[in-house]
Amino acid sequence: MNIQTVMVIGAGQMGSGIAQVHAMAGLNVILHDIKKESIERGLATITKNLTRQVEKGRVSEEEKQSVLERIITSTELLDAASVDLVIEAVVENVEVKSKIFAELDQIVPPSTILATNTSSLPITEIAAATSRPENVIGMHFMNPVPVMKLVEVIRGLATADEVYEKIKALSLKLGKTPVEVNDFPGFVSNRILMPMINEAIFAVYEGVAEPAAIDEVMKLGMNHPMGPLTLADFIGLDTCLYIMKTLHDGFGDDKYRPCPLLRKYVKAGWLGKKTGRGFYEYN
Ligand code: CAA
Ligand code: NAD
Repeated sequence: MNIQTVMVIGAGQMGSGIAQVHAMAGLNVILHDIKKESIERGLATITKNLTRQVEKGRVSEEEKQSVLERIITSTELLDAASVDLVIEAVVENVEVKSKIFAELDQIVPPSTILATNTSSLPITEIAAATSRPENVIGMHFMNPVPVMKLVEVIRGLATADEVYEKIKALSLKLGKTPVEVNDFPGFVSNRILMPMINEAIFAVYEGVAEPAAIDEVMKLGMNHPMGPLTLADFIGLDTCLYIMKTLHDGFGDDKYRPCPLLRKYVKAGWLGKKTGRGFYEYN
């Protein structure tokens, strides 16, 4: 079976990007969220991205319109009843994700692949919420999805080879590079990236330097495109904290303890760019 129709669950910064790249590759997309405002914001972001591509002469106005027409929206999970693939991109919380997967298990046909864009959570545990763990897989896109080439593909303990091959082929069709990784907390990407970001936050906490100075050191000294604190604001400080907690709980090692300043910012609602304030302020 070819993957032709995909439901993306969660229309936030990741879900909207995931919907965009699938529609641009010619797939039919159902963009689902529990909040209508999130869907509207997600669609507005996709439209803005496509308009920029038209202005740059990379996409014609007709192509832009047909990409947009391939995306329909939904606030009912039942709309997943006939899709070939679901990609879940809601909040980084294993209970929330497992509940969605258990519900999907009752809705979608037996052949449907259930993928999660989780940044760090166990694929095997999310798969265990369904009666088809062989059809569950991690498909971890990077932010911003339309730009970043990597898809980390994570097999759970029971993921079927055929499911892995289909997700690998789909990632290539999207113009991405899939990299296979095993199911451990944070996989490869966030096991390495997030402790660096957490350490940068400790450096602010301990007064080693101002956020802008820390970012400048990493940009100019290590050629990173964004400093770690700008990147943390871009990812979302709530997501960064969830990932650090998953690493800390999953490995039981204090080297992964989340910085108290990160916890404080999240408690204050300073979640970074998406709320207008994090280590920096945004208009
Ligand atoms: N959405 C869509 N397109 C975007 C975008 C966005 N949010 N931000 C930038 N772009 C596009 C721009 O339109 C531009 O496109 P063209 O080349 O077609 O003109 C291109 O990206 C470059 O943008 P800019 O020139 O404005 O800025 P830049 O050169 O600084 O690049 C960036 C922006 C690509 C985001 C770059 O700063 C970068 O690579 N940053 C690091 C991103 C990163 O590390 N991502 C991984 C985060 S971790 C993760 O995702 C995993 C997790 O689980 C947390
Ligand atoms: P976000 O906060 O921008 O969006 C999450 C969306 O999920 C919101 O629109 C919310 O309304 C919706 N949602 C919440 N509960 C829902 C439910 N039960 N059903 C349907 N929709 C629901 O978050 P994000 O940054 O897009 O992250 C989403 C997922 O992607 C997380 O698992 C995160 O770890 C992962 N991820 C994030 C990044 C990043 O840089 N932000 C990168 C890779 C992966």
